[in-house]
Amino acid sequence: MKPRRSILSVPGHVEKMHHKAAQCAADVIMLDMEDSVPADAKEEARKQIIRSLQSIDWGEKTVSVRINSTDTPYAYRDLLEVAEGAGDRLDSIVIPKVNHPGDIHFAGRMLDGIEMNRGFSNCIAIEASIETAIGLDCVSEIAAASPRLITLVFGIADYSASVGARLVSISGHGEKEEELYPGHRWHFPLSRMVMAAKANGFMAIDAPYGNFKDTEGLKQSAVMSCALGCDGKWAIHPGQIETLNQVFSPSQEDIDRAAKVLSAIEGAEAGGRGAVAVEGRMVDQATVRLAKQLVAQARHLKMV
Ligand code: COA
Ligand code: MG
Repeated sequence: MKPRRSILSVPGHVEKMHHKAAQCAADVIMLDMEDSVPADAKEEARKQIIRSLQSIDWGEKTVSVRINSTDTPYAYRDLLEVAEGAGDRLDSIVIPKVNHPGDIHFAGRMLDGIEMNRGFSNCIAIEASIETAIGLDCVSEIAAASPRLITLVFGIADYSASVGARLVSISGHGEKEEELYPGHRWHFPLSRMVMAAKANGFMAIDAPYGNFKDTEGLKQSAVMSCALGCDGKWAIHPGQIETLNQVFSPSQEDIDRAAKVLSAIEGAEAGGRGAVAVEGRMVDQATVRLAKQLVAQARHLKMV
């Protein structure tokens, strides 16, 4: 799958930002119809997104669209109009506040029909945003709901509201968490979601970081979600992309270390051993799997 280290959310009704997004370094551009669009601009956002998908040169970028949640009066029209109008230019649909596998079935069936009706040759993927207590409770069923699914995405602010967690920043998007709770306040929901995503062979994406001027805080938050198995993180501002691309790419040091592990184990196996010591640490078949995964990722990003 193409990398999804940085996913820039772009308000659907603000055309100027669409052009800016097409020029930025994000792996994925997500044109949003949900929470960055006020109720009286929902229709305009749909129309603008169709125009932008049809007319802007997105280059090598992956382009997705976030519809409104299925319990609103907007979702079915978002999906119908955008997929019919420009589905052949679209990589994926993001569904927010997925509470039940039925939300995925609904979108999957609609897309089956639209693709057949329009004769599209591409298959529009689905990304499910897990951002409620019930969504997390049902995450395994949701993750297994459709072969169209390619990611699960953690929605931190809505999840906080859903479980009644205390708000510690203005935006609610992952800031100053360490001041309230030792360690990582979102460790459990994020890890639970990562597990469901990986059990089905797809990517796990972390929520955005709200204080877009705090690069250090963003980096810390991204390093933490990377450590938990996330493959990328949403961004809400172009200024966050470089940090995310860097954190979610292997470093040269990581690549060199992996190469060392792989060559050491080759020597060990030739000598009839499964485990060997490298720089005072034990290296065995589990370490080898990690090293191979890292090299594969580096190769995918054309770093080796
Ligand atoms: N996508 C594309 N371009 C963006 C952008 C985005 N998400 N956020 C900012 N920009 C552009 C601005 O239009 C501006 O362009 P210009 O220099 O050509 O005028 C430039 O980047 C600098 O923006 P800045 O002035 O620093 O930010 P702002 O105060 O205008 O906006 C936000 C701040 C947070 C309101 C804005 O970044 C935003 O709307 N982000 C997306 C919010 C979102 O999608 N939320 C839902 C996801 S959870
Ligand atoms: Mg949300």
